[in-house]
Amino acid sequence: MSQNKEQILKNTNAQILDEFNASVMFDKELYDQDIRASIAHSKMLYAQGILTQQDQADIERGLLQVKAEIESGQFEFKIADEDIHMAVESRLTEIIGDAGKRLHTARSRNDQVATDFRLYVKEKNITIMAQLKEIVETFVKVASQHTESLIPGMTHLQHAQPINFGYHMLAYANMFKRDFERFESSYKRNNYSPLGSAALAGTPHNIDRFASCELLGFEQPTISALDTVSDRDFALEILFNISTAMMHISRISEELILWSSYEFQFIKMSDEYATTSSIMPQKKNPDVPELLRGKTGRAFGNLMSLLTVMKGLPLAYNKDTQEDKEGVFDSVKTIEISLSILNEVIKTMKVNVQNMESACKIGHLSATDLADYLVQKQNMPFRTAYYITKSVVSKADELSKDMSELNIDEIRSAHTDIANIDEEVVEFLNLRNSMNARNSYGGTSSQQTKSQIEIFEKWLESIE
Ligand code: ARG
Repeated sequence: MSQNKEQILKNTNAQILDEFNASVMFDKELYDQDIRASIAHSKMLYAQGILTQQDQADIERGLLQVKAEIESGQFEFKIADEDIHMAVESRLTEIIGDAGKRLHTARSRNDQVATDFRLYVKEKNITIMAQLKEIVETFVKVASQHTESLIPGMTHLQHAQPINFGYHMLAYANMFKRDFERFESSYKRNNYSPLGSAALAGTPHNIDRFASCELLGFEQPTISALDTVSDRDFALEILFNISTAMMHISRISEELILWSSYEFQFIKMSDEYATTSSIMPQKKNPDVPELLRGKTGRAFGNLMSLLTVMKGLPLAYNKDTQEDKEGVFDSVKTIEISLSILNEVIKTMKVNVQNMESACKIGHLSATDLADYLVQKQNMPFRTAYYITKSVVSKADELSKDMSELNIDEIRSAHTDIANIDEEVVEFLNLRNSMNARNSYGGTSSQQTKSQIEIFEKWLESIE
Protein backbone atom coordinates (compact mmCIF):
# COMPACT_ATOMS: atom_id res chain seq x y z
CA MET A 1 0.00 0.00 0.00
CA SER A 2 1.28 3.43 -0.79
CA GLN A 3 2.19 5.70 2.09
CA ASN A 4 -0.65 7.97 1.06
CA LYS A 5 -3.35 5.31 1.04
CA GLU A 6 -2.25 4.02 4.43
CA GLN A 7 -2.54 7.50 5.87
CA ILE A 8 -6.00 7.99 4.37
CA LEU A 9 -7.17 4.67 5.86
CA LYS A 10 -5.79 5.59 9.26
CA ASN A 11 -7.55 8.92 9.13
CA THR A 12 -10.80 7.34 8.10
CA ASN A 13 -10.56 4.88 10.97
CA ALA A 14 -9.83 7.66 13.40
CA GLN A 15 -12.85 9.56 12.14
CA ILE A 16 -15.12 6.55 12.47
CA LEU A 17 -13.89 5.99 16.00
CA ASP A 18 -14.39 9.64 16.92
CA GLU A 19 -17.94 9.46 15.66
CA PHE A 20 -18.51 6.18 17.47
CA ASN A 21 -17.25 7.66 20.71
CA ALA A 22 -19.03 10.99 20.48
CA SER A 23 -22.40 11.83 21.96
CA VAL A 24 -22.51 15.51 21.12
CA MET A 25 -24.89 15.06 18.21
CA PHE A 26 -27.59 13.88 20.62
CA ASP A 27 -26.56 15.12 24.07
CA LYS A 28 -26.63 18.68 22.77
CA GLU A 29 -30.25 18.40 23.86
CA LEU A 30 -28.83 18.98 27.36
CA TYR A 31 -27.09 22.29 26.55
CA ASP A 32 -29.31 24.37 28.78
CA GLN A 33 -28.95 22.08 31.78
CA ASP A 34 -25.19 21.88 31.15
CA ILE A 35 -24.79 25.63 31.13
CA ARG A 36 -26.97 26.17 34.20
CA ALA A 37 -25.03 23.52 36.10
CA SER A 38 -21.73 25.13 35.07
CA ILE A 39 -22.86 28.56 36.23
CA ALA A 40 -23.95 27.11 39.59
CA HIS A 41 -20.61 25.30 39.87
CA SER A 42 -18.65 28.48 39.14
CA LYS A 43 -20.64 30.46 41.71
CA MET A 44 -19.97 27.84 44.32
CA LEU A 45 -16.25 27.77 43.44
CA TYR A 46 -16.10 31.55 43.83
CA ALA A 47 -17.96 31.49 47.16
CA GLN A 48 -15.48 28.89 48.40
CA GLY A 49 -12.51 31.01 47.35
CA ILE A 50 -11.51 28.55 44.61
CA LEU A 51 -12.21 30.97 41.73
CA THR A 52 -11.61 34.72 41.71
CA GLN A 53 -14.56 37.03 41.28
CA GLN A 54 -13.23 38.10 37.89
CA ASP A 55 -12.88 34.53 36.63
CA GLN A 56 -16.36 33.66 37.83
CA ALA A 57 -17.84 36.72 36.15
CA ASP A 58 -16.04 35.90 32.90
CA ILE A 59 -17.15 32.29 33.06
CA GLU A 60 -20.77 33.25 33.61
CA ARG A 61 -20.74 35.83 30.83
CA GLY A 62 -19.02 33.40 28.47
CA LEU A 63 -21.46 30.61 29.26
CA LEU A 64 -24.41 32.88 28.58
CA GLN A 65 -22.87 33.78 25.25
CA VAL A 66 -22.46 30.09 24.41
CA LYS A 67 -26.13 29.56 25.28
CA ALA A 68 -27.15 32.44 23.02
CA GLU A 69 -25.03 31.05 20.18
CA ILE A 70 -26.63 27.62 20.54
CA GLU A 71 -30.12 29.05 20.65
CA SER A 72 -29.60 31.23 17.60
CA GLY A 73 -28.19 28.30 15.64
CA GLN A 74 -24.77 29.90 15.30
CA PHE A 75 -22.98 27.34 17.42
CA GLU A 76 -20.99 24.76 15.54
CA PHE A 77 -21.18 21.33 17.17
CA LYS A 78 -18.05 19.32 16.36
CA ILE A 79 -17.54 15.58 16.71
CA ALA A 80 -14.02 16.35 17.92
CA ASP A 81 -15.52 17.88 21.07
CA GLU A 82 -17.03 14.48 21.87
CA ASP A 83 -19.91 15.61 24.06
CA ILE A 84 -21.95 18.64 25.09
CA HIS A 85 -19.78 19.18 28.17
CA MET A 86 -16.56 19.48 26.16
CA ALA A 87 -18.30 21.44 23.41
CA VAL A 88 -19.49 24.10 25.84
CA GLU A 89 -16.20 24.24 27.71
CA SER A 90 -14.01 24.56 24.63
CA ARG A 91 -16.16 27.31 23.14
CA LEU A 92 -16.16 29.04 26.54
CA THR A 93 -12.36 28.97 26.57
CA GLU A 94 -12.29 30.37 23.05
CA ILE A 95 -14.46 33.25 24.20
CA ILE A 96 -12.96 34.11 27.59
CA GLY A 97 -9.49 32.60 27.43
CA ASP A 98 -7.71 30.88 30.33
CA ALA A 99 -10.45 31.44 32.90
CA GLY A 100 -12.50 28.93 30.92
CA LYS A 101 -9.96 26.26 31.77
CA ARG A 102 -10.57 26.78 35.49
CA LEU A 103 -14.26 25.85 35.32
CA HIS A 104 -13.58 22.12 35.46
CA THR A 105 -11.91 22.40 38.89
CA ALA A 106 -13.45 19.98 41.39
CA ARG A 107 -15.75 18.27 38.95
CA SER A 108 -15.64 15.57 36.30
CA ARG A 109 -17.75 14.88 33.26
CA ASN A 110 -19.09 11.99 35.31
CA ASP A 111 -20.88 14.20 37.82
CA GLN A 112 -21.55 16.74 35.08
CA VAL A 113 -23.49 14.34 32.90
CA ALA A 114 -25.33 12.93 35.92
CA THR A 115 -26.31 16.48 36.93
CA ASP A 116 -27.43 17.57 33.47
CA PHE A 117 -29.42 14.42 32.89
CA ARG A 118 -31.06 14.50 36.32
CA LEU A 119 -32.06 18.10 35.76
CA TYR A 120 -33.54 17.17 32.39
CA VAL A 121 -35.47 14.19 33.79
CA LYS A 122 -36.62 16.19 36.79
CA GLU A 123 -37.95 18.98 34.58
CA LYS A 124 -39.66 16.55 32.23
CA ASN A 125 -41.35 14.85 35.19
CA ILE A 126 -43.00 18.19 35.93
CA THR A 127 -44.11 19.00 32.38
CA ILE A 128 -45.47 15.50 31.81
CA MET A 129 -47.36 15.72 35.11
CA ALA A 130 -49.01 18.92 33.90
CA GLN A 131 -50.10 17.14 30.70
CA LEU A 132 -51.43 14.18 32.68
CA LYS A 133 -53.42 16.49 34.88
CA GLU A 134 -54.94 18.02 31.76
CA ILE A 135 -55.93 14.68 30.35
CA VAL A 136 -57.55 13.64 33.64
CA GLU A 137 -59.50 16.89 33.49
CA THR A 138 -60.67 16.06 29.98
CA PHE A 139 -61.84 12.56 30.89
CA VAL A 140 -63.67 13.92 33.94
CA LYS A 141 -65.36 16.56 31.83
CA VAL A 142 -66.58 14.02 29.27
CA ALA A 143 -67.63 11.76 32.15
CA SER A 144 -69.77 14.48 33.71
CA GLN A 145 -71.73 14.80 30.46
CA HIS A 146 -72.46 11.07 30.31
CA THR A 147 -73.40 9.81 33.75
CA GLU A 148 -76.74 8.67 32.34
CA SER A 149 -75.58 7.38 28.94
CA LEU A 150 -75.77 3.60 28.80
CA ILE A 151 -73.00 1.58 27.20
CA PRO A 152 -72.41 -2.16 27.33
CA GLY A 153 -69.79 -2.89 29.97
CA MET A 154 -67.62 -5.71 28.68
CA THR A 155 -65.34 -8.46 29.87
CA HIS A 156 -63.47 -10.56 27.30
CA LEU A 157 -64.78 -7.98 24.79
CA GLN A 158 -68.22 -9.56 25.29
CA HIS A 159 -71.23 -7.65 26.50
CA ALA A 160 -71.43 -8.17 30.26
CA GLN A 161 -73.42 -5.60 32.25
CA PRO A 162 -74.80 -2.16 31.44
CA ILE A 163 -72.67 0.71 32.71
CA ASN A 164 -72.72 4.40 31.91
CA PHE A 165 -70.26 6.01 29.54
CA GLY A 166 -69.15 8.51 32.18
CA TYR A 167 -68.11 5.62 34.38
CA HIS A 168 -66.14 4.17 31.47
CA MET A 169 -64.36 7.51 30.97
CA LEU A 170 -63.55 7.68 34.67
CA ALA A 171 -61.72 4.37 34.48
CA TYR A 172 -59.19 6.18 32.26
CA ALA A 173 -59.17 9.22 34.53
CA ASN A 174 -58.09 6.83 37.29
CA MET A 175 -55.31 5.33 35.18
CA PHE A 176 -53.90 8.71 34.19
CA LYS A 177 -54.19 9.96 37.77
CA ARG A 178 -52.03 7.07 38.94
CA ASP A 179 -49.60 7.88 36.13
CA PHE A 180 -49.44 11.44 37.44
CA GLU A 181 -48.68 10.11 40.91
CA ARG A 182 -45.95 7.85 39.58
CA PHE A 183 -44.15 10.81 37.98
CA GLU A 184 -44.66 12.81 41.16
CA SER A 185 -43.13 10.13 43.32
CA SER A 186 -40.17 9.67 40.94
CA TYR A 187 -39.66 13.42 41.00
CA LYS A 188 -39.36 13.39 44.78
CA ARG A 189 -37.12 10.34 44.86
CA ASN A 190 -34.68 11.80 42.35
CA ASN A 191 -34.59 15.41 43.42
CA TYR A 192 -30.96 15.20 44.60
CA SER A 193 -27.96 16.99 43.19
CA PRO A 194 -25.09 14.92 41.76
CA LEU A 195 -22.87 17.99 41.30
CA GLY A 196 -19.61 17.79 43.23
CA SER A 197 -19.48 13.99 43.18
CA ALA A 198 -16.56 14.47 40.77
CA ALA A 199 -15.18 11.37 39.05
CA LEU A 200 -16.38 8.78 41.58
CA ALA A 201 -15.06 9.56 45.06
CA GLY A 202 -15.53 13.25 45.74
CA THR A 203 -12.77 15.85 45.57
CA PRO A 204 -9.95 17.22 47.74
CA HIS A 205 -11.09 20.79 46.96
CA ASN A 206 -13.05 22.59 49.63
CA ILE A 207 -16.34 22.61 47.73
CA ASP A 208 -19.84 23.21 49.07
CA ARG A 209 -22.23 20.75 47.47
CA PHE A 210 -25.15 22.14 49.42
CA ALA A 211 -24.60 25.54 47.83
CA SER A 212 -24.55 24.31 44.21
CA CYS A 213 -27.47 22.05 45.04
CA GLU A 214 -29.50 24.99 46.21
CA LEU A 215 -28.59 27.06 43.17
CA LEU A 216 -29.85 24.26 40.93
CA GLY A 217 -33.08 23.80 42.86
CA PHE A 218 -32.47 20.24 44.04
CA GLU A 219 -33.64 19.16 47.48
CA GLN A 220 -30.24 18.02 48.78
CA PRO A 221 -26.96 16.70 47.41
CA THR A 222 -26.85 12.94 46.79
CA ILE A 223 -25.17 10.98 49.57
CA SER A 224 -22.65 8.79 47.75
CA ALA A 225 -20.49 10.01 44.87
CA LEU A 226 -19.78 6.43 43.85
CA ASP A 227 -23.48 5.61 43.45
CA THR A 228 -24.31 8.98 41.90
CA VAL A 229 -21.96 8.87 38.92
CA SER A 230 -22.92 5.34 38.14
CA ASP A 231 -26.60 4.60 38.54
CA ARG A 232 -29.30 5.67 36.13
CA ASP A 233 -32.37 4.45 37.96
CA PHE A 234 -33.88 7.95 37.76
CA ALA A 235 -33.79 7.57 33.96
CA LEU A 236 -35.23 4.07 34.18
CA GLU A 237 -38.05 5.40 36.34
CA ILE A 238 -39.09 8.00 33.80
CA LEU A 239 -38.88 5.34 31.07
CA PHE A 240 -41.09 3.03 33.09
CA ASN A 241 -43.52 5.81 33.98
CA ILE A 242 -43.73 6.82 30.34
CA SER A 243 -44.20 3.20 29.26
CA THR A 244 -47.07 2.74 31.68
CA ALA A 245 -48.76 5.97 30.62
CA MET A 246 -48.24 4.99 26.96
CA MET A 247 -49.79 1.61 27.69
CA HIS A 248 -52.85 3.47 29.02
CA ILE A 249 -52.85 5.73 25.96
CA SER A 250 -52.68 2.63 23.81
CA ARG A 251 -55.65 1.03 25.58
CA ILE A 252 -57.96 4.02 25.12
CA SER A 253 -56.71 4.30 21.53
CA GLU A 254 -57.72 0.71 20.92
CA GLU A 255 -61.20 1.48 22.25
CA LEU A 256 -61.44 4.60 20.09
CA ILE A 257 -60.57 2.49 17.06
CA LEU A 258 -63.21 -0.10 17.93
CA TRP A 259 -65.84 2.46 18.84
CA SER A 260 -65.44 4.35 15.60
CA SER A 261 -65.72 1.20 13.46
CA TYR A 262 -68.91 0.37 11.52
CA GLU A 263 -69.60 -2.47 13.91
CA PHE A 264 -69.76 -0.19 16.95
CA GLN A 265 -70.40 3.37 15.77
CA PHE A 266 -70.30 4.62 19.37
CA ILE A 267 -68.17 7.66 18.61
CA LYS A 268 -67.12 9.80 15.73
CA MET A 269 -63.67 11.29 15.83
CA SER A 270 -63.07 14.68 14.36
CA ASP A 271 -62.07 14.40 10.70
CA GLU A 272 -58.58 15.72 11.45
CA TYR A 273 -57.78 12.44 13.22
CA ALA A 274 -58.85 10.17 10.41
CA THR A 275 -57.39 9.90 6.93
CA THR A 276 -58.78 8.48 3.75
CA SER A 277 -57.44 5.43 2.06
CA SER A 278 -55.44 5.99 -1.12
CA ILE A 279 -57.39 3.25 -2.89
CA MET A 280 -60.78 3.04 -1.16
CA PRO A 281 -62.36 6.49 -1.38
CA GLN A 282 -65.23 5.62 0.97
CA LYS A 283 -62.90 4.85 3.89
CA LYS A 284 -61.88 6.85 6.91
CA ASN A 285 -59.07 5.29 8.84
CA PRO A 286 -58.39 6.03 12.50
CA ASP A 287 -54.69 6.64 11.81
CA VAL A 288 -54.10 8.89 14.78
CA PRO A 289 -55.22 6.48 17.52
CA GLU A 290 -53.49 3.68 15.61
CA LEU A 291 -50.26 5.63 15.77
CA LEU A 292 -50.74 6.36 19.44
CA ARG A 293 -51.15 2.63 19.96
CA GLY A 294 -48.16 1.90 17.73
CA LYS A 295 -45.81 4.40 19.34
CA THR A 296 -46.20 2.60 22.64
CA GLY A 297 -43.81 0.00 21.25
CA ARG A 298 -40.88 2.37 21.11
CA ALA A 299 -41.46 3.49 24.71
CA PHE A 300 -41.32 -0.13 25.90
CA GLY A 301 -38.22 -0.68 23.74
CA ASN A 302 -36.42 2.28 25.27
CA LEU A 303 -37.11 0.95 28.77
CA MET A 304 -35.85 -2.55 27.92
CA SER A 305 -32.84 -1.10 26.20
CA LEU A 306 -31.61 0.93 29.18
CA LEU A 307 -32.35 -1.89 31.62
CA THR A 308 -30.14 -4.07 29.47
CA VAL A 309 -27.38 -1.44 29.26
CA MET A 310 -27.28 -1.16 33.04
CA LYS A 311 -27.52 -4.76 34.11
CA GLY A 312 -23.86 -5.78 34.04
CA LEU A 313 -22.09 -2.55 34.90
CA PRO A 314 -19.49 -2.62 37.67
CA LEU A 315 -19.15 0.49 39.83
CA ALA A 316 -18.70 3.28 39.01
CA TYR A 317 -18.99 5.21 35.73
CA ASN A 318 -18.77 3.23 32.49
CA LYS A 319 -19.06 4.61 29.00
CA ASP A 320 -21.96 2.23 28.34
CA THR A 321 -24.04 4.74 30.26
CA GLN A 322 -23.73 7.19 27.38
CA GLU A 323 -26.42 5.00 25.78
CA ASP A 324 -28.91 6.24 28.39
CA LYS A 325 -29.91 9.46 26.68
CA GLU A 326 -31.37 8.88 23.22
CA GLY A 327 -34.05 6.49 24.47
CA VAL A 328 -35.11 8.90 27.19
CA PHE A 329 -35.26 11.83 24.75
CA ASP A 330 -37.28 9.71 22.38
CA SER A 331 -39.69 8.45 25.04
CA VAL A 332 -40.18 11.95 26.41
CA LYS A 333 -40.98 13.36 22.97
CA THR A 334 -43.28 10.43 22.27
CA ILE A 335 -45.33 10.86 25.42
CA GLU A 336 -45.48 14.64 25.08
CA ILE A 337 -46.94 14.54 21.60
CA SER A 338 -49.13 11.53 22.39
CA LEU A 339 -50.72 13.13 25.44
CA SER A 340 -51.41 16.38 23.68
CA ILE A 341 -52.98 14.63 20.66
CA LEU A 342 -55.02 12.21 22.77
CA ASN A 343 -56.33 15.13 24.80
CA GLU A 344 -57.66 16.79 21.65
CA VAL A 345 -59.12 13.55 20.29
CA ILE A 346 -61.10 12.96 23.50
CA LYS A 347 -62.19 16.58 23.76
CA THR A 348 -63.52 16.70 20.21
CA MET A 349 -65.04 13.24 19.75
CA LYS A 350 -68.80 13.02 19.21
CA VAL A 351 -70.46 10.43 21.40
CA ASN A 352 -73.37 8.58 19.83
CA VAL A 353 -75.49 7.93 22.91
CA GLN A 354 -78.29 6.33 20.87
CA ASN A 355 -76.08 3.67 19.37
CA MET A 356 -74.42 2.89 22.67
CA GLU A 357 -77.79 2.39 24.27
CA SER A 358 -79.09 0.20 21.45
CA ALA A 359 -76.00 -1.97 21.78
CA CYS A 360 -76.95 -2.58 25.40
CA LYS A 361 -79.95 -4.52 24.11
CA ILE A 362 -77.71 -7.16 22.64
CA GLY A 363 -76.51 -9.94 24.89
CA HIS A 364 -78.94 -9.94 27.83
CA LEU A 365 -76.93 -7.49 29.90
CA SER A 366 -79.39 -7.63 32.77
CA ALA A 367 -79.14 -11.41 33.21
CA THR A 368 -77.11 -11.04 36.41
CA ASP A 369 -79.86 -8.78 37.75
CA LEU A 370 -82.39 -11.58 37.52
CA ALA A 371 -80.08 -13.95 39.37
CA ASP A 372 -79.41 -11.29 42.02
CA TYR A 373 -83.15 -10.63 42.29
CA LEU A 374 -83.90 -14.32 42.92
CA VAL A 375 -81.19 -14.45 45.59
CA GLN A 376 -82.26 -11.23 47.29
CA LYS A 377 -86.04 -11.52 47.09
CA GLN A 378 -86.60 -15.27 47.11
CA ASN A 379 -83.63 -16.32 49.19
CA MET A 380 -82.60 -18.71 46.43
CA PRO A 381 -79.06 -20.14 46.46
CA PHE A 382 -77.04 -18.25 43.83
CA ARG A 383 -76.22 -21.37 41.81
CA THR A 384 -79.93 -22.28 41.48
CA ALA A 385 -80.75 -18.70 40.51
CA TYR A 386 -78.00 -18.88 37.92
CA TYR A 387 -79.57 -21.90 36.20
CA ILE A 388 -83.07 -20.42 36.27
CA THR A 389 -81.67 -17.23 34.74
CA LYS A 390 -80.08 -19.33 32.02
CA SER A 391 -83.51 -20.65 31.03
CA VAL A 392 -84.87 -17.09 30.88
CA VAL A 393 -81.97 -16.22 28.58
CA SER A 394 -82.91 -19.17 26.33
CA LYS A 395 -86.52 -18.02 26.38
CA ALA A 396 -85.51 -14.54 25.27
CA ASP A 397 -83.34 -16.01 22.49
CA GLU A 398 -86.27 -18.13 21.38
CA LEU A 399 -88.41 -14.99 21.12
CA SER A 400 -85.57 -13.04 19.46
CA LYS A 401 -85.74 -10.49 22.25
CA ASP A 402 -83.28 -9.09 24.72
CA MET A 403 -84.00 -10.04 28.31
CA SER A 404 -84.67 -6.43 29.16
CA GLU A 405 -87.57 -6.53 26.68
CA LEU A 406 -89.42 -9.55 28.11
CA ASN A 407 -92.86 -9.03 29.64
CA ILE A 408 -93.88 -10.74 32.87
CA ASP A 409 -95.67 -13.63 31.16
CA GLU A 410 -92.68 -14.42 29.03
CA ILE A 411 -90.45 -14.40 32.11
CA ARG A 412 -92.82 -16.63 34.09
CA SER A 413 -93.08 -19.13 31.25
CA ALA A 414 -89.33 -19.71 31.14
CA HIS A 415 -89.07 -21.96 34.21
CA THR A 416 -91.57 -23.61 36.57
CA ASP A 417 -89.73 -22.30 39.66
CA ILE A 418 -90.57 -18.73 38.69
CA ALA A 419 -94.07 -19.33 37.36
CA ASN A 420 -95.48 -16.99 40.02
CA ILE A 421 -92.68 -14.49 40.23
CA ASP A 422 -93.72 -10.95 41.20
CA GLU A 423 -94.39 -8.52 38.39
CA GLU A 424 -91.79 -6.09 39.80
CA VAL A 425 -89.05 -8.32 38.33
CA VAL A 426 -89.64 -6.62 34.96
CA GLU A 427 -88.31 -3.39 36.46
CA PHE A 428 -85.21 -5.19 37.64
CA LEU A 429 -84.44 -6.28 34.11
CA ASN A 430 -84.68 -2.74 32.77
CA LEU A 431 -81.20 -1.73 31.59
CA ARG A 432 -81.06 1.67 33.22
CA ASN A 433 -82.32 0.21 36.50
CA SER A 434 -79.73 -2.49 36.17
CA MET A 435 -76.98 0.11 35.83
CA ASN A 436 -78.30 2.14 38.74
CA ALA A 437 -78.68 -0.96 40.93
CA ARG A 438 -74.89 -1.18 41.06
CA ASN A 439 -74.72 1.46 43.70
CA SER A 440 -71.93 -0.04 45.78
CA TYR A 441 -68.91 2.17 46.41
CA GLY A 442 -66.92 2.27 43.18
CA GLY A 443 -69.89 0.91 41.24
CA THR A 444 -71.41 2.21 38.02
CA SER A 445 -74.74 3.74 39.18
CA SER A 446 -75.22 7.34 38.04
CA GLN A 447 -75.11 8.33 41.69
CA GLN A 448 -71.78 6.57 42.33
CA THR A 449 -70.37 7.93 39.08
CA LYS A 450 -71.27 11.44 40.18
CA SER A 451 -69.57 11.03 43.53
CA GLN A 452 -66.49 9.65 41.77
CA ILE A 453 -66.49 12.78 39.60
CA GLU A 454 -66.59 14.88 42.76
CA ILE A 455 -63.57 13.05 44.13
CA PHE A 456 -61.71 13.82 40.92
CA GLU A 457 -62.74 17.45 40.94
CA LYS A 458 -61.40 17.83 44.48
CA TRP A 459 -58.17 16.14 43.48
CA LEU A 460 -57.77 18.39 40.44
CA GLU A 461 -58.33 21.45 42.61
CA SER A 462 -55.72 20.27 45.08
CA ILE A 463 -53.02 20.41 42.40
CA GLU A 464 -51.81 23.87 41.70
N1 ARG B 1 -20.69 11.70 27.14
C1 ARG B 1 -20.54 11.00 28.37
C2 ARG B 1 -21.87 10.32 28.75
O1 ARG B 1 -22.84 10.61 28.14
C3 ARG B 1 -20.17 11.95 29.46
C4 ARG B 1 -19.35 11.38 30.55
C5 ARG B 1 -18.04 10.99 30.05
N2 ARG B 1 -17.17 10.60 31.09
C6 ARG B 1 -16.09 9.89 30.86
N3 ARG B 1 -15.36 9.58 31.86
N4 ARG B 1 -15.76 9.51 29.64
O2 ARG B 1 -21.92 9.46 29.60
